Amino acid sequence: MKEQLEKIKEEALKQIEASEALDRLNEIRVAYLGKKGELTTVLKSMKDVAPEDRPKVGQMVNDARALIEAKLEETKTALARKAREEQMKLEVIDVTLPAKKSNVGHSHPNTLALEELERIFVGMGYEVVEGPEIEYDEYNFTKLNIPPNHPAKDEQDTFYINKDIVLRTQTSPVQARTMEKGKLPIRMISPGRVFRSDEVDATHSPSFHQVEGLVIDKNITFADLKGTLAEFARQLFGEDTKVKFRPHHFPFTEPSAEMDVSCFKCGGKGCRFCKGTGWIEILGCGMVHPHVFEMCGVDPEVYTGFAFGVGLERISLLKYEIDDMRLLYENDVRFLKQF
Ligand code: DAH
Repeated sequence: MKEQLEKIKEEALKQIEASEALDRLNEIRVAYLGKKGELTTVLKSMKDVAPEDRPKVGQMVNDARALIEAKLEETKTALARKAREEQMKLEVIDVTLPAKKSNVGHSHPNTLALEELERIFVGMGYEVVEGPEIEYDEYNFTKLNIPPNHPAKDEQDTFYINKDIVLRTQTSPVQARTMEKGKLPIRMISPGRVFRSDEVDATHSPSFHQVEGLVIDKNITFADLKGTLAEFARQLFGEDTKVKFRPHHFPFTEPSAEMDVSCFKCGGKGCRFCKGTGWIEILGCGMVHPHVFEMCGVDPEVYTGFAFGVGLERISLLKYEIDDMRLLYENDVRFLKQF
């Protein structure tokens, strides 16, 4: 009996020492100390031991049990510590590493210019409205007095989705959409993206932005147009800015003009910036054509109005003295951060 116990004890301790995982320890516990474990079996065979030896043998079984349990506990603690150390090694954090910088972006020059423009016109009581970038040919051309086969369509060659739908070449179709809503008077600007099938160079891009303007009421005259746009130019480029209107042709306005501002760089004397002329062209404008009124459901006998269209990129390039339009589309933060 004694030898049997010794053997069991030795074998158990050996197995415990050799075990490398907590699971294995549990198996050993069950195999020796469990209900059907080896020590328990010995205990069950006590009835075969002479009564006078029973206390002694019982003591021996208990000692063996205590020893195995202590060894199990000790090994469990050691294994758990080892596992934790390995885990910590895997999760090590190098606190001396430089921190990741969180970069804050910067408003695009177009955004800055547009905000400025909106501030000026909203200050004069204008509403800001938006229109679709994918537009019916009818709104982009026909309702603006550019009938099918009109040569003006060639000048604004665009991307056709199908024969009736185009990527708008101008923000002017928003004029037609606003008039058709039938709420008069109108005083609105409409900024947005436009498209033309142009090659990319320093002054062209197949996608750029315009800001449309439209004012319709009773008794609106060319004097209102001039006064409004001159005030706009002064607010945008400075109090001393002068404006000049040159006759021009747009199908949807009559009469039409282009507006130049005195060069804000040289004050009109002529410099590299204004190519020596002292003037810089900034927008197209005119009195809304009666045909456009008729096609959009406004009575030209009662109402008159003026419209204008500004190229947003043109304004940002001028205002921030950027000499290549492509820089506006590369979105290099080092470039953008300058403004
Ligand atoms: N839509 C014209 C263009 O893209 C710009 C323009 C000119 C708009 C005169 C107008 C205007 O509203 O009256 O070239």
